[in-house]
Amino acid sequence: MDDISYKTYKNLIDEHILDFLPEIDHKSITLYDAMKYSLTAGGKRLRPILLLASCEFVGGDIGTAIPYACAMEYIHTYSLIHDDLPAMDDDELRRGLPTNHMVYGEAMAILAGDGLLTSAFEAMNKDMLLYLDDSVKLKRRIRAIYEISKGAGCRGMVAGQVADMEAENKQCSKEMLDYIHFNKTAALIAASVRAGAYLGGATEKQLRDLTGYAENLGLAFQIADDILDVCGDEQEMGKKAGNDEKKHKATYPCLYSLEECKAYLKDLTETAMSFLECYYDEAEFFNTFAEEMVARGK
Ligand code: IPE
Ligand code: IPE
Ligand code: MG
Ligand code: MG
Ligand code: MG
Repeated sequence: MDDISYKTYKNLIDEHILDFLPEIDHKSITLYDAMKYSLTAGGKRLRPILLLASCEFVGGDIGTAIPYACAMEYIHTYSLIHDDLPAMDDDELRRGLPTNHMVYGEAMAILAGDGLLTSAFEAMNKDMLLYLDDSVKLKRRIRAIYEISKGAGCRGMVAGQVADMEAENKQCSKEMLDYIHFNKTAALIAASVRAGAYLGGATEKQLRDLTGYAENLGLAFQIADDILDVCGDEQEMGKKAGNDEKKHKATYPCLYSLEECKAYLKDLTETAMSFLECYYDEAEFFNTFAEEMVARGK
């Protein structure tokens, strides 16, 4: 990975990750603690990094994109807290620590997820208020929020999680599996890239190319995650392996051999990179990022 920019982006996110949580009445301090627990537990910060990198790629100022990058991580973190709940994947370990509900109880974990989701939109809307007199910048922000809402919601991640739940214990077609992976994972990754591109003032072509890249990368990312669930190292992943099989989840390793999964992963990664070929070295960060995805599932 282009270490310098990866670390720069990641440090920016880690430094500001708590800045956009609303000031909470002391009587609700447990809510704050529960949200902070999962936000600061670690995490690769891939989605906010992609948001910042896309903004910079199209010539934008990443400093002004930080509220949106952190909001994206709030949404992602809420999705993990809820994904781990007993009613969903029933997981005990996340980001190397006990899952939110193991520490704060199920009710508080649900509410911490709700709090993170709403705080994300509060943070982005608060930022928009600074641009009421600048219609160009305001429009970019409105478009970014719309992308994030679509990717996170009922036409994106939530829809994918519903399909994932409904596919448990069932035979699943390749088409359905692609639908699940595309929505539960690729949608938020593509939304990160598109939001960053809008914030930075991307051209239509840049937006199209970055979207093609992110959609394929997002699918590749979930296949790598499925492969790691079969043969990954718990310590390295910070989460338990083997849960997909235990829960009879619809995954790629469940439909195809590991070799076939790895070939598909490589294919998708190459397709992702092909969308940015015309930018040559300027797309180096994104190419290395995609190669690292394949390496995860190798
Ligand atoms: C985990 O995402 C959930 C999936 C969509 C596979 P990440 O692997 O990005 O998790 P963190 O943020 O690094 O913990
Ligand atoms: C999660 O997919 C996708 C989300 C929207 C959170 P998984 O259920 O496979 O993610 P992990 O393996 O628990 O991180
Ligand atoms: Mg899940
Ligand atoms: Mg899970
Ligand atoms: Mg998984």
